[in-house]
Amino acid sequence: MFNLSSIHVLITGAGSGIGLALATHFKKIGCIVSAVDLKVSDELLALDVNCFSADVSDPESLLSAFESACFKNGKLDGLINNAGIAIPEGPIENSDISLLTKALDINVKGVYLGIKYATQFLNEGGSIVNTASLAAYVTLPEYSIYSMTKASVIQLTKNAALQLGSRNIRVNSVSPGTVLTPMEPIDGVEAILAKNTTALGRPAQVDDLLGAYHFLLSDASKYVTGIDVKVDGGWSAGLTYSGIEKLSS
Ligand SMILES: NC(=O)c1ccc[n+]([C@@H]2O[C@H](COP(=O)([O-])OP(=O)(O)OC[C@H]3O[C@@H](n4cnc5c(N)ncnc54)[C@H](O)[C@@H]3O)[C@@H](O)[C@H]2O)c1
Repeated sequence: MFNLSSIHVLITGAGSGIGLALATHFKKIGCIVSAVDLKVSDELLALDVNCFSADVSDPESLLSAFESACFKNGKLDGLINNAGIAIPEGPIENSDISLLTKALDINVKGVYLGIKYATQFLNEGGSIVNTASLAAYVTLPEYSIYSMTKASVIQLTKNAALQLGSRNIRVNSVSPGTVLTPMEPIDGVEAILAKNTTALGRPAQVDDLLGAYHFLLSDASKYVTGIDVKVDGGWSAGLTYSGIEKLSS
């Protein structure tokens, strides 16, 4: 039920962090991995997967990566729309509007285009998994742009699930809490918050995320579509004893 060997999966944002961990995992278990990123990182090259350089927010560039990946390896069985950015935006009143445009382009339009092209390049019975974020639910001051882009990913996931269900294509999302990657360093505010306020008392390592994506790509989730899976160490469950203690002292 969990066997994914020899399926063809395309992963965007595969050059770093969560995407690189996903590419490594799916390659290791015998999938054909097509890895897409702005540029092909040394780590990705070392993995010996099919690498394609593309910008997910640029229709021509992303379409060409889908075409090359499928020309070489046949149609897709899985797509992980994972590329995303988090830009420090500051208070709304002083924010730079170009940041809003950039984040919408990559985090929302990039996922939308991935789903759009998957309708051409995904086999019936395929699975799409989008990387959203806990920030869609639990936001922080000065994270308005990032949070709204990730909330959009969850809503887009639900809508696409409705549209593609008749072809037995499932669409789900994963919402990580804080994951230690180049985007979220160990000494960053989010990692410190995760240590102090999650039920599990720590931020995630990238490998903490793999099971959720594997489940959603596999037959084990064959009747699961249109949902968001939070992988947040219990952050969204509420305040912990230590969190309450710190807040009340
Ligand atoms: N790290 C976290 O705590 C965390 C938490 C929740 C959600 N996320 C989400 O997880 C995803 C991966 O984040 P990460 O932490 O691994 O970050 P990361 O910065 O390590 O990796 C992101 C990758 O996406 C690529 N990318 C960025 N813009 C692109 C574009 N226009 N086209 C193609 N590729 C592009 C980057 O080059 C990079 O390789 C993102 O969508 C992010 O929003 C991360």
